[in-house]
Amino acid sequence: MAHDASYPDFYSDPHVIDTPREYFAQMRAINPVVREAYHGSMIVSGYDEVSEVLTSRDGTFSSSVSVLGPLPPLPFEPEGDDIREQLDAHRDLMPWTAHLVCFDGDKHTKHRALLTSLLTFKRLKANEAYLGELVDKLIDEFQRSGTCEVVQQFAHKVSTYAISDIMGISMEDRFELLELLGAPPSQIDGDAVHKVGPDPLIFLKERFDGYILARQAEPCGDLLSDLANARFKDGSAPSYERLAELARFLFGAGQDTTSRLMAMAIRVLGDDLALQDRLRREPERIGDFLEEVLRIDPPVKVVYRVVQKSTQIAGVPAPAGTVVNVSLTGANNDPRHYADPDRFDLDRQGVRDHMAFSRGAHGCLGAPLARLEAKVAIERLLARTSQIRISEAHHGAPGERRYAFEPTYSFRNIQELHIEFEPAVELA
Ligand code: HEM
Repeated sequence: MAHDASYPDFYSDPHVIDTPREYFAQMRAINPVVREAYHGSMIVSGYDEVSEVLTSRDGTFSSSVSVLGPLPPLPFEPEGDDIREQLDAHRDLMPWTAHLVCFDGDKHTKHRALLTSLLTFKRLKANEAYLGELVDKLIDEFQRSGTCEVVQQFAHKVSTYAISDIMGISMEDRFELLELLGAPPSQIDGDAVHKVGPDPLIFLKERFDGYILARQAEPCGDLLSDLANARFKDGSAPSYERLAELARFLFGAGQDTTSRLMAMAIRVLGDDLALQDRLRREPERIGDFLEEVLRIDPPVKVVYRVVQKSTQIAGVPAPAGTVVNVSLTGANNDPRHYADPDRFDLDRQGVRDHMAFSRGAHGCLGAPLARLEAKVAIERLLARTSQIRISEAHHGAPGERRYAFEPTYSFRNIQELHIEFEPAVELA
């Protein structure tokens, strides 16, 4: 592969980690569908083109590479215009393959159906009440100091405790699970060092196998009990291991994504006192505010697909075996779809019209929970502070801010966010 391209290597250049929107704008200006020169993946960065790939339902694309894309490369040499059989024969060698997000076709539909009815309105309502108390307790811990490191002291705890609560995981276990979950592994040096295997959530296996087995023996009305006793449409029972895999994925999927949504939202607020004041006066607009945060800089930058049957994407040939970088960041900032996409606009028309949660068969199942968590967190934080500022000592002066992002090419994970604030007048 030639390496003299006019654009950086998305999968190894640390600068792209800091500026993904700029990278996708550069690629889109070349063409919304480009085969990049370093790894031969196809970068799809336009709204319509991304939508075309994500909503394709005829088996042209496989999600088997959804999380990591072209690195590591496919464990076989693609042959011919239809590689479905080859792919199926090698799935067990591919990273993340044990989890729903990498399933395809009927297997995916069948397993996804086991999860779709679990996040009920009633459970979300109960979770909202819990979240209010939880968020207030977390704010109590740092409020007097007037400072907070948002990712560790606040956002990460909110997302881990929220999903634990809605699933029915005991209070005691929640603390331990929080400890167990570290940052996602670096991807910037590919998969050579970290060797992400077929089941990167294996470290949670024993615990979640235990949860499912205990609830099969004695259901207690919580989400895990419903899952433990769920049946496929034909009435047959999935194995307990499979149910525990689904439980682990549900637990893991919304951790970093949701916590980084909260952190990115607080970053926007910290640089815009007028917006803070407006949202304090109009808390009913916090939902719209979060949608715009999700649009402009989404927590999942890219999902990946591999072409199973040779095709074209927006007229560009995509032979079987091509890995497609389906850029949610690119789609969400496409000037052909959004007026002035670089402007953060709370009043943007159709503010939910973005792809931060993907779309099509694999569209995010946890979006209602993620939205709820972030809404409660921001509502309470705004209500209990009168001014939130980005810490200049940590991130530099306005206009020269510095933030570090975790070295992953799939996720937009801010590492730390230090803020300072004044407590709200009535609580000061
Ligand atoms: C802001 C927070 C979140 C973001 C940005 C996000 C984003 C995404 C994206 C982009 C996908 C699609 C992957 C693909 O198309 O290949 C996805 C799938 C998924 N998400 Fe989320 N997610 C978030 C929170 C959550 C939460 C809280 C949960 C759990 C309650 C969750 C559970 C899932 C599941 C189970 C899937 C797999 C669906 C499937 O493959 O059929 N997510 N998410």
